[in-house]
Amino acid sequence: MAAVQIIPIKVGVVLDMDGYGEMALTCISMALRDFYATHDHYKTRLVLTNRDSKGDVVGAAAAALDLLKNVEVQAIIGPMFSYQANFLIALGHKAQVPIITFSATTPLLTSLRSPYFIRTTLNDSSQVDAIVAIIQAFGWREVVQIYEDNEFGEGIIPYLTGALEKVNIRVPYRSAISPLATDDQIVAELNKLTSMQTRVFVVHMLSPLASRLFTKAKQLGMMSREYAWIITDGVTNELKSMDQFVKESMLGVIGVKPYVPKTKELDDFAIRYKEMVQKKSTPDFDIFGLWAYDSAIALAMAAEKAIVRNPTYRKTNISRNSTELEAIGVSETGPKLIQALSTTTFKGLAGEFKLVHGQLQGSSFQIINMVGPGDRGIGYWTKDNGIVRELNFTSANKKTYSTSKSNLGSIIWPGDVSSPPKGWEIPTNGKKLRVGVPVKDGFTEFMHVNWNSDNSTNVEGYCKDIFDAVMAALPYHVPYEYIPFATPDHKMAGDYNDLVYQVHLKNYDAVAGDITIIANRSQYIDFTLPYTDSGERVVSNLARFVLIIWFLVVFILTQSYTASLSSMLTVQKLQPKVTDVNELINNKDYVGYSKGSFVYGFLKKMKFDDSQLIAYESPEQLDELLSKGSGNGGIAAAFDGTPFIKLFFSKYCSKYTTAGQTYKADGFGFVCYPPSIK
Ligand SMILES: *[C@@H]1O[C@H](CO)[C@@H](O)[C@H](O)[C@H]1NC(C)=O
Ligand SMILES: *[C@@H]1O[C@H](CO)[C@@H](O)[C@H](O)[C@H]1NC(C)=O
Ligand SMILES: *[C@@H]1O[C@H](CO)[C@@H](O)[C@H](O)[C@H]1NC(C)=O
Ligand SMILES: *[C@@H]1O[C@H](CO)[C@@H](O)[C@H](O)[C@H]1NC(C)=O
Ligand SMILES: *[C@@H]1O[C@H](CO)[C@@H](O)[C@H](O)[C@H]1NC(C)=O
Repeated sequence: MAAVQIIPIKVGVVLDMDGYGEMALTCISMALRDFYATHDHYKTRLVLTNRDSKGDVVGAAAAALDLLKNVEVQAIIGPMFSYQANFLIALGHKAQVPIITFSATTPLLTSLRSPYFIRTTLNDSSQVDAIVAIIQAFGWREVVQIYEDNEFGEGIIPYLTGALEKVNIRVPYRSAISPLATDDQIVAELNKLTSMQTRVFVVHMLSPLASRLFTKAKQLGMMSREYAWIITDGVTNELKSMDQFVKESMLGVIGVKPYVPKTKELDDFAIRYKEMVQKKSTPDFDIFGLWAYDSAIALAMAAEKAIVRNPTYRKTNISRNSTELEAIGVSETGPKLIQALSTTTFKGLAGEFKLVHGQLQGSSFQIINMVGPGDRGIGYWTKDNGIVRELNFTSANKKTYSTSKSNLGSIIWPGDVSSPPKGWEIPTNGKKLRVGVPVKDGFTEFMHVNWNSDNSTNVEGYCKDIFDAVMAALPYHVPYEYIPFATPDHKMAGDYNDLVYQVHLKNYDAVAGDITIIANRSQYIDFTLPYTDSGERVVSNLARFVLIIWFLVVFILTQSYTASLSSMLTVQKLQPKVTDVNELINNKDYVGYSKGSFVYGFLKKMKFDDSQLIAYESPEQLDELLSKGSGNGGIAAAFDGTPFIKLFFSKYCSKYTTAGQTYKADGFGFVCYPPSIK
């Protein structure tokens, strides 16, 4: 019996033979060893010849020419990078030799329309719908694209822009950064971005440039709560090999990466790969290594299917005059091989292997969140269902496409916060809205200032909570800070206090706290639009958002809090000695008012004598004064705003009651003083 004649099929491999190329070549070799170990009855055997493309376009071209002319390979696996691919694809087309790249991802290559170009990796535009779904999920209206300024980086841009515009998301600016940019150039570009309003960035670059970008962004304070960063698989695919320090600076970044099913085969491969590269400095494999592995298997299957018996090149019309290129000839087996390859499907290490128009099809991406030193899956995106929490391939519910953020797991955002950024901000060049907080003792529930040992302050209380809620409801982010200021004692300052308040208010953009707005003091606040000193209507960005807050304040005053404040007479509940204000005045009884409150002026107007008025600073002190009673160092009654009285009653409800008339006095709300725009 004659031995089975094995037909060798020569296959070229064109890779930059650095560590990364070693990784890919190792995966390809392992694939063939694994495959023929279980398919030893096959008549064909792929035989590899590898050439170093030496990190550039010319190196890749020279390597391919050599393989075609001198080795007469039937297929070429490679090149590694998009920028090396154009010439190889043209060569393959001319020689009818399949060029199979597992790592050149730019969609630009598709436009070459060569039937001999096979892409066994996802093209970059496969992920744009996943990215757009994330942007929709958080309701962001504008994004800025930051991309590597080369074939790889720019290829995705038209697809991403088109997909964004389809759902009315604006792209006000694109930022192209050269992979050769200096750190200073990167910083200059980032500074430009902070001077704009958009705070959502989509970053499409390879990991070396991305590492530098995020390190600088962190240093410039751009990894803070106002910012959203989304990375494409150009970065997510290489996270494993990125520097720990860089990954920590990427806290809060969201990204998409091709979904690779966890399988026993993959686990086995990982173990065997580790053994294989044990003593060498070859890096760990990434998803491109898996695609390289799957490519080799696909090619081995296709070669057998095509039963290439006598793989040769046809060399006609070749003369001495012929150029190198003309001397290559044409592979006679190419058409059969490409036909077999395009119908080859199997379950690969990286998932289902299936080509459509010569390109690998992928329909699922994992959505990840950078948390500390690594990434964490927070959900998936699929072509049919959009954003989903879990992948469910058996689900019958195929046609509902969701962009709901509720399908995502919990996310840590830049600045280590749990609420998503608004994605848009008025550039203030680092300036924050200055919110004055009047410092008062007592009634701490409304606003309270805690002084820390390092002279910094914490503000808390009901007014702060409301102010925070209003600011949070604005459709964009306004940075602001609370600045406590001492309130004047009305009794000490007399009518001068109006002036003091005005001086204070001029120093702030807004005031939050237990401030009473009194309508007849028109010089407190003026219900007109702010004007500049020269009388022009203000139009700057700062002015515009001051105006918005201004209208908000007016709205709150007129809608929510009108009539909520009134003055009340508070007396001992059990035996109310007095029920009438005039009685108090005539008896020359002592009465209390809250220190720093407008009530003082109110009482003076009612003809109380200055000597009758005693200020209190806290509910406790008021209780003490009322308990003592007038003439015993205490007071007979107190006047205060309804919210304060309610608060007082919540603590001492059984002891006191209100009596007499309720005086209507204005509102309770935020003061926002139209600042002179500087
Ligand atoms: C990119 O790949 C997707 C499938 O993943 C395909 O639908 C699309 O046409 C491809 N685009 C280009 C430009 O190659
Ligand atoms: C070879 O040359 C002949 C005559 O010049 C021409 O008709 C023919 O098309 C050429 N064949 C190829 C494959 O170029
Ligand atoms: C080679 O080139 C010369 C000059 O261009 C031409 O005269 C000659 O016919 C060519 N020979 C062949 C075999 O094509
Ligand atoms: C997947 O979907 C099917 C049909 O809707 C359902 O019965 C099954 O429980 C789902 N599986 C998971 C893991 O959610
Ligand atoms: C706090 O402020 C006071 C007055 O401005 C100053 O004398 C003191 O040194 C400051 N303390 C700290 C810890 O900064």
